[in-house]
Amino acid sequence: MPTFSDIARRHPTLISERMSELISTTNSMGELATKLCELRCLSVDEYAKLISERAEGDAKGLAEFAYKECERVYGDAVFSRGLIEFTNYCANDCLYCGIRRGNAECNRYRLTDDQIAACAEQGYELGFRTFVLQGGEDPHSTDEWLCRIVRSLKEAHPDCAVTLSVGERSRESYARLREAGADRYLLRHETASPVHYRKLHPRSMSYENRMRCLGDLRDLGYAVGVGFMVGSPFQTPSDLAADLKFIEQFKPEMCGIGPFVPHHATPFAGYAGGTVELTCFLLSIIRIIQPNILLPATTALGTIDDEGREKGILAGANVVMPNLSPAEVRADYELYDNKICTGDEAAECAGCLGARMLAVGRRLVVDRGDPKEAA
Ligand code: 5AD
Ligand code: FES
Repeated sequence: MPTFSDIARRHPTLISERMSELISTTNSMGELATKLCELRCLSVDEYAKLISERAEGDAKGLAEFAYKECERVYGDAVFSRGLIEFTNYCANDCLYCGIRRGNAECNRYRLTDDQIAACAEQGYELGFRTFVLQGGEDPHSTDEWLCRIVRSLKEAHPDCAVTLSVGERSRESYARLREAGADRYLLRHETASPVHYRKLHPRSMSYENRMRCLGDLRDLGYAVGVGFMVGSPFQTPSDLAADLKFIEQFKPEMCGIGPFVPHHATPFAGYAGGTVELTCFLLSIIRIIQPNILLPATTALGTIDDEGREKGILAGANVVMPNLSPAEVRADYELYDNKICTGDEAAECAGCLGARMLAVGRRLVVDRGDPKEAA
């Protein structure tokens, strides 16, 4: 198993100076960090303490351990998922989100069936074997229409996995989509604290319904992805501790975490965003809690730091999700300000990510990247 210093030696020119700062051979982990590596779980209070009292030695030690754990389960593979952002219409009004209903500045679009098929076709040629259909909660995304899209994607590319990320729906709807062939579903829980949930969402939404959705998705046999933002307004170390406990207990197949990035036309415009440092620290903890989890180094992480995704991989992430949406609509899927890659073609993103992964000792692979059984 190569250590960080082996990687640095293998790729001396690819690893930037800042990156090599992250690479350590001597670690001084505190008691709680060591306990986490041994037991793979802590109490909620211990998680909160680990977060609020984290020292540099903890972060480095956990990142190194997490990176190796990832390698133990998945080797040097990083999986790629082709993201198709097919609609930015949204009936919800989450306070943090740039495509919220209340944002009148948002330039709305909806891809046609043919456009979606063309994105997938292009993605397939580039080597993608998982497509993620993501959209706001658009009333036009009826069960009938979505089932048709899922069926035709599966027909055109039977060797591919189809992931849906279209928000909260009824159990019946999730069941129909599953029958139509959807394999996976991403629905970030956003926060595992009901009090914090209230502060991020309008009254029309509830923590209970979010959890109901996740339970239904799990029951119906989807591979389920949860997730949350790091540094969202009003978030405390105890809220993050609740997120970690939730992940430990729910055992999702995937978990998307990225920094909160303020969007100028939302009620949270004036709030500070999350940091790369805390996001990476949490990625490491999650990898250690559940070594076989699929953990993306998110676009939001790449947005607040040019090497954010690489740092995420070094902290234990193993998935990247480049955008396959048509270039002309990309900038309009603006969940937060300054989102990266909005001017790039799908092929450019795929090439760029391949090189970036090599720089941190990983290889971008072409397969469905199904979750492995717990090791
Ligand atoms: N900053 C970072 N992430 C955001 N999301 C929505 N708005 C923002 C923002 N301002 C995330 C949410 C949502 C996912 C699609 O994007 O967690 O679930
Ligand atoms: Fe639609 Fe937030 S407003 S996901």
